[in-house]
Amino acid sequence: MPNDANDLILVIDEGTTSTRAMLFATDGRCIASEARALDQTYPRAGWVEHDAAEIWRKTLRVTAAMVAQAGGAHRIAGIGITNQRETIVFWDRETGEPLAPAIVWQDRRTAATCRDLRERGHEAEVQAKTGLLLDPYFSASKIGWAMREWPQLADAGARLAIGTVDSWLIWKLTGGLHVTDATNASRTALMDVHTGSWDDGLCALFGVPRAALPEIVDCAGRFGETTAFGAAISICGIAGDQQAAAIGQACLSPGQTKATFGTGAFILTHAGATPPTSGHRMLSTVAWQLGGERTYALEGSVFVAGSLVQWLRDTLGLIGTAAETEALARSVPDSGGVYLVPALSGLGAPWWEPNARASISGLSFATGKAHVARAALEAMAYQAHDLKTAFAADGIDWHSLRIDGGMVANDWMAQDMADLLGIAVERPRFAETTALGAAMLAGVGAGLFAGLEDATTMLGEVETFTPSQGEDERQTRLAGWKAAVDAVVAESK
Ligand code: G3P
Repeated sequence: MPNDANDLILVIDEGTTSTRAMLFATDGRCIASEARALDQTYPRAGWVEHDAAEIWRKTLRVTAAMVAQAGGAHRIAGIGITNQRETIVFWDRETGEPLAPAIVWQDRRTAATCRDLRERGHEAEVQAKTGLLLDPYFSASKIGWAMREWPQLADAGARLAIGTVDSWLIWKLTGGLHVTDATNASRTALMDVHTGSWDDGLCALFGVPRAALPEIVDCAGRFGETTAFGAAISICGIAGDQQAAAIGQACLSPGQTKATFGTGAFILTHAGATPPTSGHRMLSTVAWQLGGERTYALEGSVFVAGSLVQWLRDTLGLIGTAAETEALARSVPDSGGVYLVPALSGLGAPWWEPNARASISGLSFATGKAHVARAALEAMAYQAHDLKTAFAADGIDWHSLRIDGGMVANDWMAQDMADLLGIAVERPRFAETTALGAAMLAGVGAGLFAGLEDATTMLGEVETFTPSQGEDERQTRLAGWKAAVDAVVAESK
């Protein structure tokens, strides 16, 4: 007899390098998944663009494949959407087609604008309102740049719609609903993090037409329906990918911390019901919004993590596969004094130096590719350590760290993280925590769970890595890293 129960959750996880759809049962089992790689366009040094039409086309394809796996749209209780944050899309409300390339979060084209605004004394106001800093990473300066440089946007007048990737996908799925959730909105530098509303002063400061922005909604609910796959399916969950990962890592109480090592590395600590204030250049951001109530996180954003290994493989040809880095790192007793500061798209937290360039230092004829590969992996622990120090200075000390993302399948890296941070590092056996978090939100929105706590029944087991390195060795390594990163920062000034 065919199973007609309406109890499956479909997740769309639209990341920087790929778009994926996954099908979950309410006990957390991942039943099926399908992904497509996305083209990355680098029109100039520091510029990174995506084709929003390609994102939609590929998302539609992988989502349709999951609906087919489910046995039809009627089997799906709700869709959860999670996405690369800050990346900004411009489209025409009448045609539903993009009006310009999407400007990706990694794009540094507005570095000079941000520096200029900082020099004119605007950073304190931006930080107080948004919890963010003046850096090209966030959407606002990218939108302002596009409005000035791409005349077709102003020409579109009232037809212009602007949104992060969640908004774009929801528009396309529903045929014209223009919403975003509070986590994605909190990354634009246009939302007042205290009120959860767009701020007119910030829109004016960055040159953003407020009328083109979406309505800000909760992370769980029934936001609209798609009939793109047959019977109507409700969109029930929305969150930026790093916030979704925090939920999927069950960071549901103050102090709980997760680190996702995907394209970049993003560390978020649950900070409770009021926005944290950072004195050490960390970000205050919305972790989720449910029933109009916001929960906040302190975030440290590192721009280069998995993309470093990809670069070693695809651009330098130093390795054949990402997985090789583990055996290479184990094949040498240490990095031989080599440090790799991966500022390939500037430096994020805590430095915020958009013009910084990467370095590999400490090379000699004794250096082999194993040392460079090991230095690349060690850079992950060093960057996490810099954030741990800044979080602690802001009054949030980590007692353990929950890690996830593509890179953490590497046992050597997970152990090195525990050794260097000197705390237990926990890794879930099911590594797709971003998708799981979006599934939890969609489950709540669809009424399958009473709330996020209830939805933690979807979560599985974790493995723990405990620190084993001596303090002297740890300090020596950290001193070497500090010298290397200080040199990169000094060079970028
Ligand atoms: O803030 C950028 C972040 O959302 C990108 O995530 O998974 O593509 O590294 P990811």
